[in-house]
Amino acid sequence: MQIKSIFDKMDYGAAPESAREAQNWLKNHNYTFGNFINGKWKQCEDHFSTVNPANDQVLAKIGQSSPSDIDSAVKAARAAQKKWSKESDHARARILYAIARLLQKNSRLFSVLETLDNGKPIRESRDIDIPLAQRHFYYHAGMAQLMQAELPKRSPIGVCGQIIPWNFPLLMLSWKIAPAIAMGNAVVLKPAEYTSLTALLFAEICTSAGVPNGLINIVTGDGKVGEMIVGHKDINKIAFTGSTEVGKLIRERTAGSGKSLTLELGGKSPFVVFDDADLDSAVEGVVDAIWFNQGQVCCAGSRLLVHEAISEKFYNKLRNRMKNLRLGSPLDKSIDMGAIIDKKQHKKISGMVSQTKGKVFQASSPLPQEGCFFPPTLITDLHTADPLMHEEIFGPVLVSTTFRTPSEAIELSNNTTFGLAASVWSENINLCLELAPKIKAGVIWINGTNMFDAAAGFGGVKQSGFGREGGWEGLLAYSKPKNQFSPKIKSTLVKNQISKADYIDRTAKLYIGGKQCRPDSGYSQSIVDHNGKPVTQVPLSNRKDIRNAVEAMNSAKNWSHSTAHLRAQILYYMAENLSARRAEFANTLQALTGRSDAQTEVEQSIQRLFFYAAWSDKFDGSARSVPFKAVALVMKEAIGNCGVLCDNQYPLLGFISVMAPLFATGNRSIIIPSETFSPVVTDFYQVLDTSDVPPGTINILTGKHADLAIELAGHMDIESVWSFSTSDVSRDIEKASVSNLKRTWVNNGCGRDWNTEEGFGREFLENATENKTIWIPYGE
Ligand code: NAI
Repeated sequence: MQIKSIFDKMDYGAAPESAREAQNWLKNHNYTFGNFINGKWKQCEDHFSTVNPANDQVLAKIGQSSPSDIDSAVKAARAAQKKWSKESDHARARILYAIARLLQKNSRLFSVLETLDNGKPIRESRDIDIPLAQRHFYYHAGMAQLMQAELPKRSPIGVCGQIIPWNFPLLMLSWKIAPAIAMGNAVVLKPAEYTSLTALLFAEICTSAGVPNGLINIVTGDGKVGEMIVGHKDINKIAFTGSTEVGKLIRERTAGSGKSLTLELGGKSPFVVFDDADLDSAVEGVVDAIWFNQGQVCCAGSRLLVHEAISEKFYNKLRNRMKNLRLGSPLDKSIDMGAIIDKKQHKKISGMVSQTKGKVFQASSPLPQEGCFFPPTLITDLHTADPLMHEEIFGPVLVSTTFRTPSEAIELSNNTTFGLAASVWSENINLCLELAPKIKAGVIWINGTNMFDAAAGFGGVKQSGFGREGGWEGLLAYSKPKNQFSPKIKSTLVKNQISKADYIDRTAKLYIGGKQCRPDSGYSQSIVDHNGKPVTQVPLSNRKDIRNAVEAMNSAKNWSHSTAHLRAQILYYMAENLSARRAEFANTLQALTGRSDAQTEVEQSIQRLFFYAAWSDKFDGSARSVPFKAVALVMKEAIGNCGVLCDNQYPLLGFISVMAPLFATGNRSIIIPSETFSPVVTDFYQVLDTSDVPPGTINILTGKHADLAIELAGHMDIESVWSFSTSDVSRDIEKASVSNLKRTWVNNGCGRDWNTEEGFGREFLENATENKTIWIPYGE
């Protein structure tokens, strides 16, 4: 062959990575693996095969755990956690550091094993998955070192059950294990059944790193083993990454159990290209967004939205680029795309593509003869309501439609039940930064995609799940406030009866959209004082009233984009107006509750309004130090429409303590005041009216907590529900929240002292906000 002909063709030669070391490792284990429990290998009775999807060859036999295996793992974790949480920060940091070093020293073995088991290109496992996994342990070694100094009010949660998917096996393991052990927890982790090998190799390096026995347990098996972990009584927290369907099952299964839960689920992330974007860069961005890891990425930019004026030009560029994508052996260093994880997934992808009414383009690049490969696919001309524009395909399939204006781009971006990520492309940075806060997603990439780092939180909103992994915000998911809210609330509910019109001395109504309204039901509830003497009646709200209040909240959506200064001003104004009427409120409180500290409760309420007014413009985001040329901004955003059930014992302070942090952070709320002593709050309507509170931002509905809790938690347009209710509604709320996977913060029947630090602080502000990470690369 002549040099000229090589130049003419410019073909790639094969550049295969050797699998010898990985094969030797498998051989040394006799191609059979059990569980890693209490620092030792424990064989399983049953096994299943793990297969290389690029050539269908069996790599090894993996153990299918039994309930008693899970029991042993949890027991070992419990014992180890007790000691681990007492270790010094430095001692914990050293172990995480040792793990990071060992991951680095064995990085090629991990990369090759990952590629063999998963089918992803070695280029990706070697340059992305494994280095990011190392970075996670390094970063969290630092977090362990800083825990006492920086998080003095947080403590470990206990034993964490962690269930991960097959698309980034070692990376997801590190995202879960590193923050958990850094914060003093122990873990029982189950890798996905398709890809257990790197988790088992990781178990081996734990021994070399000096990880105490039982601190990290790796148990293998299918979804049934996942269910055993979720249902285990002695696990304190479940962290799950995987499909939305299973995420919802886990939410239901853990409802009322007191287990803390984080879910990182699916997505249908928009990739928005404006006419002034650098189109060639945007094409490369699309390649990375949807053909990285064969599109089997939860945050894949799988929904392309193109400015109509340039759509044909852009599609042509993209189709040309697709023709040059190379599929082949994942161990070949110069291929672009590897194999799909399994035939089942391949069938699902082909089934979805074959039914589309859109225009399908697939490059005619040759597919390998054996193994599980699917060509890069672009589907255009889709209607916005087409199922493929909404369902997660989880394969190398990009669907697309066009838009005309920035506001249409925002609307289309948000036209999904998911909210994991979005990518926005324009040379006009002002335009990008206009879109970033308006797209509902946990991560926004500007002129880029798939940027990840341990210092910048990752996670979703809406049905993409809740909780963050990475950054300071990720530590919240693996630690809890040191205050123990253990004592069960003693019910102070006085038996109120629904009665006719006796003893009415005031006409309390509901407060919806800035107006006092009659309830839909036409029923009222008698309120009795501490002596049991009926004093007045308050309305019993129902589902219809909640619907009206949600409508009012939706009309007040701009509140979330108001300035923090304005929100502070209104809270100060409320404090001023309450202060002017402090004697009257204290009298009502005392008459109702019979408590001698009524005056203190009013004073505390005024202080609390000042407290959240003060925080309103100081609960900031931050810019994170990421190891490349980009700024990663972590912004605190309002969650949206929230519902809250208040404490019974402190009717005014309990109400102010939840209303004010939600208001200060730009949320709209429906607040259900104390069931027993709500007239104190219905009197507060006048304070709201005289304090310039925008209509719809605070809505107050009186009534039965047990009934209203389920209505609030089941409503598709409410994004978060908190409960401090005396009634035992935590389980009902968590169960009903599955409807739209809303965030919940419930008391599990425990009380809180509203007069102390338990009743206010950052915990309330954190629960009132979502962290959004906005990535802005810089440089030429
Ligand atoms: P999956 O959600 O069923 O599996 C993820 C993990 O959960 C695995 O470790 C599995 O063993 C475990 N699991 C399964 N059922 C469980 C249960 N009832 N309780 C507890 N754990 C359980 O995902 P799968 O079946 O592997 O893929 C199905 C679809 O899910 C894919 O086609 C894709 O659309 C989506 N998916 C999304 C992911 C994401 O990161 N968003 C990751 C993996 C899959």
